[in-house]
Amino acid sequence: MIRLDAISKTYDGVEYAVRDITLDVDAGEFIALLGASGCGKTTTLKMINRLIEPTAGTIHVDGIDVTQTDPVELRRGIGYVFQGIGLFPHLTVAENVAVVPRLLGWERSRTAARTDELLELVQLDPAQYRQRSPRELSGGQQQRVGLARALAARPKVMLMDEPFGALDPLTRDELQQAFADIRRRLDLTVVMVTHDMTEALLLTDRIAVMDAGRIVALDTPVDLMRDTTSEQVRRLLDMPRRQTGRLEAIMAGPDVRSGEGADRT
Ligand SMILES: Nc1ncnc2c1ncn2[C@@H]1O[C@H](COP(=O)(O)OP(=O)(O)OP(=O)(O)O)[C@@H](O)[C@H]1O
Ligand SMILES: [Mg+2]
Repeated sequence: MIRLDAISKTYDGVEYAVRDITLDVDAGEFIALLGASGCGKTTTLKMINRLIEPTAGTIHVDGIDVTQTDPVELRRGIGYVFQGIGLFPHLTVAENVAVVPRLLGWERSRTAARTDELLELVQLDPAQYRQRSPRELSGGQQQRVGLARALAARPKVMLMDEPFGALDPLTRDELQQAFADIRRRLDLTVVMVTHDMTEALLLTDRIAVMDAGRIVALDTPVDLMRDTTSEQVRRLLDMPRRQTGRLEAIMAGPDVRSGEGADRT
């Protein structure tokens, strides 16, 4: 469905933000681009819908070379959730969600119906939230609106840049589950940028681990957990592993920890 072939990007002709990335995303697959800040995740994502032009390599979406497609046309078929929400502050919630339908010249009644349907999908009561301004919403609610906006034109492909970042853990979990559900129902092909290994492990089909502009590992969560060859991957997995271990110990009760921490009462 999405094919990146030997993609590179340099902004200044010297340093490479993305270096020789090859990646195939199947129809209906949910893939994570995971890695530290500055490793090239957003750059990679934005090249898929031509918000950024690659320096070298080719990208196909649904069999079509994206450089041969009108960018506006291309983006109609691809939902995009921006890093850091990116709602239009001067538009209401409903107007934000309806940005693409308006561009497409949908009739008013059809747009209104679609907007309400999408707000319900992301679990925001339309009657209550339709007319609000983004600044009258919590961060989590704003991210829901961003998600609804990206889904407006019924894309088959979704590109999401840290869509669940900056949320408290409960809201984050709730929105992740809501999206997992939406994605299955709509059979979306999804590329999601994240720096959260736990999120990638729990939600996605495959994880592309990036480091300094390259993909250094690409595997299913299960196989990635088993792989110990890559130092980079091991480091990323170390934290969720340790946290899981600690949580299990706490859940199991105090006797499991006997011998350690006895003097910490
Ligand atoms: N418009 C730009 N002009 C010049 N350099 C850029 C531009 N955008 C990004 N870069 C550089 O390219 C590299 C990759 O940036 P990118 O935004 O893709 O990282 P990222 O993995 O998304 O990071 P983060 O997790 O912090 O969002 C960085 O070194 C960044 O400084
Ligand atoms: Mg980024």
